Amino acid sequence: MKGVILAGGTGTRLYPLTRLMNKHLLPVGRYPMICYGIDRLRKAGITDILLVISKQSAGMYTDFLGSGAAFGVSLTYKIQEAAGGIAEALELAKGFIPSGERFVVLLGDNLFTEDLAPYVEGYLRQPEGTAKVLLKPVSDARRYGVPVFDSSDAGWIARIEEKPKQPKSEYCVTGIYMYDEAVFDIIQRISPSQRGELEITDVNNLYAADRKLSYDVLKEWWSDAGTFDSLREAGDKLKDALP
Ligand code: DAU
Repeated sequence: MKGVILAGGTGTRLYPLTRLMNKHLLPVGRYPMICYGIDRLRKAGITDILLVISKQSAGMYTDFLGSGAAFGVSLTYKIQEAAGGIAEALELAKGFIPSGERFVVLLGDNLFTEDLAPYVEGYLRQPEGTAKVLLKPVSDARRYGVPVFDSSDAGWIARIEEKPKQPKSEYCVTGIYMYDEAVFDIIQRISPSQRGELEITDVNNLYAADRKLSYDVLKEWWSDAGTFDSLREAGDKLKDALP
């Protein structure tokens, strides 16, 4: 199974630091942020990894990570020319995923301690053409994509509302997604949002509308390190997480 880490985007919430370098290279504990997602995939046995990066700081990624061998993985790099949205970045993985294979996608600013393997095993038992997202209870769901469940829930999400003013659940949809190649056809069916981006929530909502979006809930620590407060918290939490 292959993995994809999406590390494009502009990181505006971390200005002015992100004028100096791309968000996913900022220090978290003793390593750049990007290393933690790589480590989570490797621990789950996923060592063939595509990094989608922006033009900014591209040389710094290869300087630090190289082929990935020193980190126990094999890395492929693709450039997302401009921040056209998470789904646009994901589309760049199309040639990387062999026909018929399933894969895991991480947002590069999502940091967590849990082993992904049991969730991946669950996903592999799902029918073809379905997807899975991982959820986490949060104190301020308005900052995230929020799942809406219906009464006949049974493990499937009815829809996701992106950054709702009045969240309908206490969960956030984390940036940990599992798909098969059907996702590339689904991306073709969405249009740019009001802010001009191809939204991952629009992709996931097409799955949800067909009752094809399952979920699990993360049990351990998770954070989206996209703000100064969460970046500092992540640095404290993960300071000894990597050797
Ligand atoms: O962290 C979880 C949240 O991530 C979800 O709950 C939301 O549903 C999802 O839309 C996303 O929201 P954010 O507002 O946090 O997304 P952001 O624009 O900060 O991008 C998150 C990551 O996605 C970022 O670390 C890099 C990648 N990305 C983003 C954009 C816009 C790309 O690779 N390319 C892009 O063009």
